[in-house]
Amino acid sequence: MTDGTVPGVGLPSARRHADLLVIGGALVTPNGVERADVACAAGRIVALGDLQCSWTADATLDAKGLHVLPGVIDSQVHFREPGLTHKETLEAGTRGAALGGVTAVFEMPNTQPLTLRAEDLRAKLDAAQGRAWCDHAFYIGGSSVNAEHLEYLESLPGCAGVKIFMGSSFGDLLADDDEVLCRILAHGRRRMAVHAEDEARLRERRIIAESSGDVRQHPVWRDARSALLATQRIVKLAGDTGRRLHILHVSTAEEIAFLADRKDRVTVEVTPHHLTLEAPECYERLGTLAQMNPPVRERCHRNALWQAIREGVGDVIGSDHAPHTPKEKSRPYPASPSGMTGVQTLVPVMLDHVHRGQLSLQRFVDLTSAGPARIFGVEGKGRIALGYDADLTLVDLAARRTIRNDWIASVSGWTPYDGIGVTGWPIHTVVRGHIVVRDEALVGTTPLGRPLRFLEAPPRVPAGV
Ligand code: DOR
Repeated sequence: MTDGTVPGVGLPSARRHADLLVIGGALVTPNGVERADVACAAGRIVALGDLQCSWTADATLDAKGLHVLPGVIDSQVHFREPGLTHKETLEAGTRGAALGGVTAVFEMPNTQPLTLRAEDLRAKLDAAQGRAWCDHAFYIGGSSVNAEHLEYLESLPGCAGVKIFMGSSFGDLLADDDEVLCRILAHGRRRMAVHAEDEARLRERRIIAESSGDVRQHPVWRDARSALLATQRIVKLAGDTGRRLHILHVSTAEEIAFLADRKDRVTVEVTPHHLTLEAPECYERLGTLAQMNPPVRERCHRNALWQAIREGVGDVIGSDHAPHTPKEKSRPYPASPSGMTGVQTLVPVMLDHVHRGQLSLQRFVDLTSAGPARIFGVEGKGRIALGYDADLTLVDLAARRTIRNDWIASVSGWTPYDGIGVTGWPIHTVVRGHIVVRDEALVGTTPLGRPLRFLEAPPRVPAGV
């Protein structure tokens, strides 16, 4: 690999200077895995190659024995600020992200107040200023009250796009009837993120949960058909308007089969918990700690999700980090809220799957860096290449660790993977050339996270064109 400079063309023979040099790592680049150094300056990658003799730097990171991934982007987290900071905060949530090797997050709108207006988005961006340990963007919630303003709202700086809940989950954000959904779809161009569970069916079937009081009934109440009906309905409605969609936390074999040949307009998120846990074992072992919406389901669905990961139907892995306190989670089902932490464990849990041969390291990078950058139009992130933001996740693929609750930075302070041994661990985290985590510990006391920048969304392509 060249070092990105052009010998003899106006360049002095003197050594060049960087803010940070990352030395001796195995880089996962679009060309594959290659041993090379990385020079970072002014937040960007400015040189790649054998740099130790030709570059000096203010800071150096020894990456020998480590793999250097493009910064991991977690495109689905709930950080509960404002209004629910007894569960999570922007500071603790982004600290957990950085300690887990995540360099950028997309945060969800079901806070209190909901993120529905420009001032709600502004308030979150202001709250993150000087308190976020990683880069960030915030979804605007799509609803009947702001449908006609969404084209303007989704264009605002720091906005990750529009997210809708078709089925009620946590909070009051809900868009469940076709008329409201069509109004939301008609206003905006960016790919819209969807929580796809069918509200009418959930209401009909809630009696299953209430009459049993047994969390093992959660995937029966919120069954596969509830997910498929909603996914089919929103894809049909969006097809009529040409709007691109991103179906969050796809949880069923039926949705994967349905979405596999609709990839021209619909992208697919899969979560680590739907790939790692399975019913009924997870409910027997973890009780309501395993309760998520949509639910973790039985093995046939998990196998289908893995097939989707291997065959490219899955586009991104997002954690759906959704903290609730242990006290809240211990309420009797179904009064127990659905949700679990996940932003800090996304990398180690998925690297353990890499270790077990479930997916390649390159595929993991595809799903957590190149994929999110591509489908959300993130500017300057998603790969290790000249001119890109110097976001780097440095991991030890051979490191064995046991995940513990006391490692979790989240205000809620627990993980469903407590006590689970993994092979593969995040060691250093670099955000725009700043070492945020070194040797698994936070560096400094000043969070430097900034809002993400997005490329102009492409025009919609109406059906039949
Ligand atoms: O289980 C969930 N919890 N799923 C969601 O969609 C929302 C999340 C939360 O915010 O608690």
